[in-house]
Amino acid sequence: MNTMTIAIDGPAAAGKSTVAKKVAEKLSFIYVDTGAMYRALTWKAIQEKVSLEDEEALFSLLSRTDLNLVQSDKGQLVIVDQNDVSELIRTAEVTNQVSITAKHRKVREEMVRRQQELVKDKGVVMDGRDIGTHVLPDAEVKIFMIASVDERAERRHKENVEKGFPSNLEELKEEIRRRDELDSNRAVSPLIKADDAVEVDTTSMNIEEVVDRILQIVKQKS
Ligand code: C5P
Repeated sequence: MNTMTIAIDGPAAAGKSTVAKKVAEKLSFIYVDTGAMYRALTWKAIQEKVSLEDEEALFSLLSRTDLNLVQSDKGQLVIVDQNDVSELIRTAEVTNQVSITAKHRKVREEMVRRQQELVKDKGVVMDGRDIGTHVLPDAEVKIFMIASVDERAERRHKENVEKGFPSNLEELKEEIRRRDELDSNRAVSPLIKADDAVEVDTTSMNIEEVVDRILQIVKQKS
């Protein structure tokens, strides 16, 4: 049980990371947020003025980037070359461009290699877009979390307002739709439900209900 792997995939802002974190906590597993890794590379490329369309340049940048996900009291920290970028990678500037970074084959291959390294012999909950299909194809539990665009945008809007961040509901809907479209239609490892994944539609569920549903699925498999 303590080396079980749980893959959670799904479209943008479906609540994957909130749920994955809680599931990991309940099971005392580690949590790996793979979206944070693509965001971190996007952030660094913007800092260094590397074009996000330039696959070779991005791959070369990634090769010289030390990227770590560190568990702390404050949750998972994203550390790039010894700097804590956990908040910097959540800005609209990064969010609106990360799907460009994530479309490149060489970047994805290196990210997948690093993600697989992180989970050797450990109980893990990993969330992303291609976890069940590419990163952990043998995961014991695969979840594909979905929710309507309106619901996802409203949740994100509420979260932003609570944190005191500027937020516009219509812009959020547009951003989510665009990111879904790019992630679902890219040539390399598009967002797609693995054949053996269980689909969980969270549109009318709260976080605790989703966590309980996933724990039930885990229990059935263990
Ligand atoms: O999960 P999050 O919204 O932080 O992911 C940011 C972006 O990173 C996604 O929209 C997608 O383009 C990319 N991503 C990916 N594969 C993953 C995780 C994230 O392509 N496994």
